[in-house]
Amino acid sequence: MRQFPPLYRIWHWLQAVAMFGLFVTVVLRTTVMHKEQIGGIVQSKLAEIGTVISDEQAVLIGKAVRAPMWDWHIYLGIAVAVLLVARILMVLKNGFGFDDNPAMQKVYGLYKLFYGVLAVMSISGLVLYWKLAGESKEIVESVHMYLGWGLFGFMAIHIVGVVLAEKSDQCGLVSRMINGRD
Ligand code: HEM
Ligand code: HEM
Repeated sequence: MRQFPPLYRIWHWLQAVAMFGLFVTVVLRTTVMHKEQIGGIVQSKLAEIGTVISDEQAVLIGKAVRAPMWDWHIYLGIAVAVLLVARILMVLKNGFGFDDNPAMQKVYGLYKLFYGVLAVMSISGLVLYWKLAGESKEIVESVHMYLGWGLFGFMAIHIVGVVLAEKSDQCGLVSRMINGRD
């Protein structure tokens, strides 16, 4: 059975919280806090009291209202990048810590892929934030967006996978990730 040392468990749960938080920021940005949606509400309410603003002005207001929420994407994104560096240092010192359970080898491959994608996400996110992409901005944005949704998909598969593993041959897996023992 795989053992989960305290540092690794703390790392895992910080990572999980940060990734859930990133998911929330992206869902808000693309739904109720969409800049055009907020701008549209402001525009129509202002029109009711006799002030007309253009669509462009409405979107600018929408962006400004969204900004404090979106700041959390940047904070959590930086946290995830720092956690990735921490995990790389842990792997360099002690290896991945995977066991040789044959049924788990594909899952371990998926975890390695996750770290690779996380590296691309951290770099592309920072490039967008610091406006370093120049003419490739749209490409970087697309890579960041599609891989980001891929990671959210990983989260869903991972949670279902952990539940299934817990119910089959790895009873106590979640306890070990919380307490370090069954
Ligand atoms: C309720 C939610 C979650 C539970 C119960 C959970 C539980 C677990 C457990 C038991 C393992 C060890 C599995 C094994 O031995 O292969 C694990 C590994 C892992 N989890 Fe989670 N997890 C949760 C959420 C997340 C989230 C949101 C993320 C981030 C996307 C995440 C990322 C990872 C990664 C990357 C590993 C592999 C780490 C490694 O060994 O290198 N987990 N998780
Ligand atoms: C695993 C970590 C991350 C995930 C899963 C993630 C996910 C996403 C997704 C899905 C979008 C697209 C939102 C939309 O459709 O409008 C996005 C946009 C963005 N992300 Fe991240 N992100 C991560 C890390 C970061 C980091 C580290 C930064 C920088 C510190 C960052 C900065 C940005 C910026 C500036 C945008 C807006 C790009 C634009 O204007 O289209 N992200 N992120």
